[in-house]
Amino acid sequence: MLDTIYLKDYAPPAWLIDKLDLHVAIHEEYTEVRGMLACRRNPAGPGGELVLDGEELALQELSLGGTALVDSDYTLDDDTLCIRAVRGAALPDHFTLETRVRIDPDSNTQLSGLYRSRDGYFSQCEAQGFRRISFFPDRPDIMARFSCTIEAERQDFPQLLSNGNLVASGTLGNTRHWARWEDPYAKPCYLFALVAAKLDMLEDSFVTRSGRVVRLAVYVEPGKLDQCGHAMSALKKSMSWDEQRFGLEMDLDHYMIVAVGDFNMGAMENKGLNIFNTKYVLARPDTATDSDYQNIDRVIAHEYFHNWTGNRVTCRDWFQLSLKEGLTVFRDQEFSADTHSSAVTRIQSVRQLRIAQFPEDAGPMAHPIRPVSYAEINNFYTATVYEKGAEVVRMIHTLIGRDAFRHGMDLYFQRHDGQAVTCEDFVAAMQDASGLDLSQFRRWYSRAGTPHLKAEGCYDAAVQRYTLTLSQSLAPTAYEQRLQDAGLAIEEGPLHIPVALGLVLPDGSDALEREYPAGTCVLSLTESTQRFVFDHIPAEPVASVLRGFSAPVHLDFPQSDAELAHLMAYDSDACNRWEAGQRLASRVLLAGVAAGGQDTAWIPESFVAAVDRVLDDGMRHDAALAAEALILPAEQVLAEEMAGRGQIIDPEAIHRSRLTLRHHLAARLRDKFEAAWQALAPSSPYAPDGLQVGRRALRNLALGYLAESDEAYLKGHVMPRLMAQCNADNMTDVIAALGTLANLDVAERTTALADFYTRWQDEALVVDKWLQVQATSRLPGTAMRVRALMGHGAFDIKNPNKVYALVRAFCAANPRHFHGADGEGYRLAADVILQLQAMNPQVAARIARAFDRWRQFDSERQSHARTQLERIQGSTNLARDVAEVVGNALG
Ligand code: PHE
Ligand code: ZN
Repeated sequence: MLDTIYLKDYAPPAWLIDKLDLHVAIHEEYTEVRGMLACRRNPAGPGGELVLDGEELALQELSLGGTALVDSDYTLDDDTLCIRAVRGAALPDHFTLETRVRIDPDSNTQLSGLYRSRDGYFSQCEAQGFRRISFFPDRPDIMARFSCTIEAERQDFPQLLSNGNLVASGTLGNTRHWARWEDPYAKPCYLFALVAAKLDMLEDSFVTRSGRVVRLAVYVEPGKLDQCGHAMSALKKSMSWDEQRFGLEMDLDHYMIVAVGDFNMGAMENKGLNIFNTKYVLARPDTATDSDYQNIDRVIAHEYFHNWTGNRVTCRDWFQLSLKEGLTVFRDQEFSADTHSSAVTRIQSVRQLRIAQFPEDAGPMAHPIRPVSYAEINNFYTATVYEKGAEVVRMIHTLIGRDAFRHGMDLYFQRHDGQAVTCEDFVAAMQDASGLDLSQFRRWYSRAGTPHLKAEGCYDAAVQRYTLTLSQSLAPTAYEQRLQDAGLAIEEGPLHIPVALGLVLPDGSDALEREYPAGTCVLSLTESTQRFVFDHIPAEPVASVLRGFSAPVHLDFPQSDAELAHLMAYDSDACNRWEAGQRLASRVLLAGVAAGGQDTAWIPESFVAAVDRVLDDGMRHDAALAAEALILPAEQVLAEEMAGRGQIIDPEAIHRSRLTLRHHLAARLRDKFEAAWQALAPSSPYAPDGLQVGRRALRNLALGYLAESDEAYLKGHVMPRLMAQCNADNMTDVIAALGTLANLDVAERTTALADFYTRWQDEALVVDKWLQVQATSRLPGTAMRVRALMGHGAFDIKNPNKVYALVRAFCAANPRHFHGADGEGYRLAADVILQLQAMNPQVAARIARAFDRWRQFDSERQSHARTQLERIQGSTNLARDVAEVVGNALG
């Protein structure tokens, strides 16, 4: 059985560590780590021995205040070191503990702790990697002042970096050198970082608004300096934005970003020394796409914003993870909205929430943004904690307004700077700053599942009154079942849901324009059912409910096709214009699924007309918004809609329906797509700016539809363009063409893929794209090709980016093939999980999440999935990460 950790068992630490002085000596055969811990009995603690975490550490020496400890003074097992006494005498209230251990970073394939990557040694400590470097109480409520001396071969590892300020450095003998760093701020050990590597550096500086000069540096693999300019400018933009929007300044003299090719996650906010996956740093027009550029902006901002929301104020325990992650995602979303298009940013966040978070909430790993138990914390870096966490913060923002929110942030920092706190502390600051009672709102923190919001409108022309009845419901999820099994209390009662509402009149204007800003009023739904009445509405309006997607809920609102078309055309809220289009498209596509995806009788003429209008609009006004509107709901989203209606998910029918609709639109609107393609041709050199990005998105979308034309047209008119575009000067256009070709059963596909690989084989991130377009291909035999690619020299199972690009892309972004009726997709996933789990349990567990929804499929598929899940579960020495995911899936 897996050990479960419970929030209710939280107790303050018995001992505090005020300082940690580390000495890390990197040698070819091993690394030696010495730690000097200044320990102090916690007056507010429960008393007792000093418990230190340690994993895969070979203890060499242990002494207390200079006295070597003897066997009877301590106990040491696989993961803890307990210090009870000094030579039999009780521990004093203050002392220094000295430890010396050896670790083996060269054989660390988990990429947690200190590990070797191509250009040197890198650390990753969140959540529990520090215990793989040195003995320490590895919990975020222990905040210590760190100093760190690093020693290594000078030639191979010229850069020696850690948090804070470089205070001294020198040489040692002929070939070695050392550097000593001191971090002036106390921090939890998960924010510690160390790098010893051979890297190139781009340097710059930033002057904060109070006049502090901060040296900025981006370190990358040698030869890649021409790919880090965008990251640097994103960093500077983030720094000014946080000053302007939240009054938050950089607090250190150095801010360093180090890019590494082997990394489990996106990036890590270590104090003053962020470590990034290369994917979120490196970009050049010919190697990175528009969305890569945007993601770099977002992730650089995210990690930078953590300096205040996460580092200055951190989490008391890992159950509070959303305290820093939900808030920081909210902040990076706001940054993107302010620096790119706010409507497009919001639409993309909502789409992502539906693709990743809603299924999570409906599946066996369902959990609230603040869970109360876990077996492996690494499994809780989820869409729920991050993205739904951000939605919860956004709802507070919506309820109390921008100014009160800002006061709430100020108060939060006034109260908690330098502390490790809880989600409750954050909500309390927001409540106190705004005066709004958030007690009912707090339920969002402890409830799993996606609520249903039911709406019903009624217009009384005689008295010009519109009445909207809203009701909410939230069915128990797998999480409540787990609570019940553990004998824990289950929260009940309605949630406090902000429902942003507009009433759109027949002429397209907003009925509430005079009373409310932007014609949008925010309703507070706090009861199970509530009625809202609006007087002086001159004509029957179409209600625009949940403007800006004001709450993460499923909306059940039976609006007619004509009403949705009205919103698509006139809603002043861009997000809901998009949403109306998505609802209409889902309706059509699900009718297609019901019709078996055959013929086209289920495609209403009005839908074709709506697409036509959006295209027209996009060419005249906002191309980026039009491109978003023309992306049909994802197969995963349609699958969830089926599951939500109690139907069995039919991945084949969903795929067919979507494809039929694409073919139909391509045939009916070919001239329009051609016109768009012509009109949106590039007129200036590539730049990843909003205007160009939108034009490229719409133009490539048009090209994608043209590629769905009949064979003659495809061969004669589209194929030459696709092949030419494979040689475009920017990766956005190249990958759009290559991705389209990868879906076509034509000889040119092979040529284009081979040429692309030949050209880019030495550029790791571009090779990832090559793997990904093949993994997500809709052609038959894709599972087999993915398997074959795993044997290709380009693939490396030890590198997370490669596994994500090939295997996770196949499992998570190619539902029709992953859920193939022959069970080959499931077998492939299980093979990878089993091969990977001992090497890198975190990444293996992420792949295992692909099985989450297995019970929603037909019995044939269920039996294939069960076979594979049981095969994984039955393997010996299964990593805890994978065991938790698979255990929950099998329930
Ligand atoms: N804290 C990191 C972030 O949100 C994510 C992360 C978690 C990175 C665990 C590495 C390990 O930006
Ligand atoms: Zn984060």
